[in-house]
Amino acid sequence: MEYTLRKAEPRDVSDILRLVKELAKYEEMEHQVRLTEKDLLEDGFGETPFYHCIIAETQEKGGDGLKVVGFAMYYFTYDPWVGKQLYLEEFYVMDEYRGLGIGSDILRHLSDLAMKTRCSGMMFVVAENNESSVNFYKGRGAEDLSQEEGWRLFRFDKDSLVKMATPAEE
Ligand code: COA
Repeated sequence: MEYTLRKAEPRDVSDILRLVKELAKYEEMEHQVRLTEKDLLEDGFGETPFYHCIIAETQEKGGDGLKVVGFAMYYFTYDPWVGKQLYLEEFYVMDEYRGLGIGSDILRHLSDLAMKTRCSGMMFVVAENNESSVNFYKGRGAEDLSQEEGWRLFRFDKDSLVKMATPAEE
């Protein structure tokens, strides 16, 4: 199977959203996806990109062209103890294209990027019941920080933020 990895471009937003939804479905949380192509376009390709994507694309033999079959969404974060970090937000390869090395290749690409930008690590969250991915990451040396260091994942949702924020003027 021939495939290439490349940086996402604005024309990729419909494929990115398709894969985001597929991953959400895989995680049984499809109903939580509210993002639109317009959001992806504005947020990833404007003056200040809030995310970046690497795309895996195949050229199907006898098919009608290129097909986006996997992606990783990432951005840079900062850890005050150790500095720059890559944050892997989404990582997905379509079912029928798994096990061909595409995922490992994407991780290699991100590791190269991390080295180039002098990041000291790559953070990500995995659902506890996603055993195959936990094994995939652990097999490549990932540490389970919830288990080893006892961190818990928190979020203020929008309602909580509104309550804490400066009230809007009447
Ligand atoms: N499906 C899945 N994995 C298979 C497989 C198949 N049909 N056949 C073999 N594998 C094994 C491979 O041998 C390899 O094992 P290894 O860890 O011993 O090397 C591993 O699974 C897959 O390696 P690779 O082909 O490089 O990765 P991939 O292209 O399958 O992508 C994921 C890896 C995790 C992105 C992909 O499995 C996926 O999208 N999973 C579902 C979504 C998900 O859980 N994403 C991560 C959220 S945190």
